[in-house]
Amino acid sequence: MKWDPEKYVQFADHRDRPFFDLTSRIVSDAPGLVVDLGCGPGPLTRSLAERWHEARVIGLDSSAEMIEKARAHQHAPNLSFDLADAQSWMPEPDTDVLVSNAMLQWIPGHRELMVKWLTALRPGAWFAVQVPGNFSSPSHALMRELADSPRWAAQLSGVLRHDDAVGEPEDYLKILLSAGFETDVWETTYGQVLEGRDPVLEWVRGTALRPIFAKLSPEKSADYEHEYAQLVSRAYPPFSGPAGQCLTMFPFRRIFMVGRKL
Ligand SMILES: C[S@@+](CC[C@H](N)C(=O)[O-])C[C@H]1O[C@@H](n2cnc3c(N)ncnc32)[C@H](O)[C@@H]1O
Repeated sequence: MKWDPEKYVQFADHRDRPFFDLTSRIVSDAPGLVVDLGCGPGPLTRSLAERWHEARVIGLDSSAEMIEKARAHQHAPNLSFDLADAQSWMPEPDTDVLVSNAMLQWIPGHRELMVKWLTALRPGAWFAVQVPGNFSSPSHALMRELADSPRWAAQLSGVLRHDDAVGEPEDYLKILLSAGFETDVWETTYGQVLEGRDPVLEWVRGTALRPIFAKLSPEKSADYEHEYAQLVSRAYPPFSGPAGQCLTMFPFRRIFMVGRKL
């Protein structure tokens, strides 16, 4: 599945906020090695390099497009980017901070991977992960219902993740506690207000719809999008803002976990 860095940075303000809410709970003063796994186009990784300018900060991602964009635009003397697939990656034993924002939901079986990483980290190391907790929300449920409908099932059956793509906060709490971490797990539903026509479609074009685009021709993708846009605009009805602008409330639940190994 291909990522489009230009598309992903649309709505950057809403997409970045959980990263800062997550990383503000890490209280490491002088880490030596910081890893941002699934770093995307890199500006958030650069913020880590600026925060911990004495540390070596590495952004890793499995998308060549994302790494290329990050290397071209995100510079700091202590920052580097590399291609890596989280599914076969393990932290170096001297990793002090491991951050992964909005990546693990793409990996089936990520809870087992987490256990391996947590076991490999040394005492004092920090682990900070955020995953979207919105797979049952209308934006995703309608996407799956449409993909499973008679018109699309032959091409799209099984292409989308299910509503159990991520665990509940208590699942992650138990994983961190069992691995010997002092733990802080929480969830937030952001009341995101988006502007313009079909903004929920625009949002998921950069993320959740990408497996559909990878499967369908451009013409068929456009047909699917058209049908999906009609369904979501009923689920998230637009309204007029004070200056007459077209606004839509798109609530977005996210799950956070931050821990320090004892
Ligand atoms: C939603 S973006 C998040 C990017 C960044 N962390 C942020 O918060 O803006 C998800 C990222 O995870 C990466 N990704 C997905 N599966 C991955 C894997 N198996 N290994 C490494 N990166 C992966 C994608 O390439 C994409 O850049």
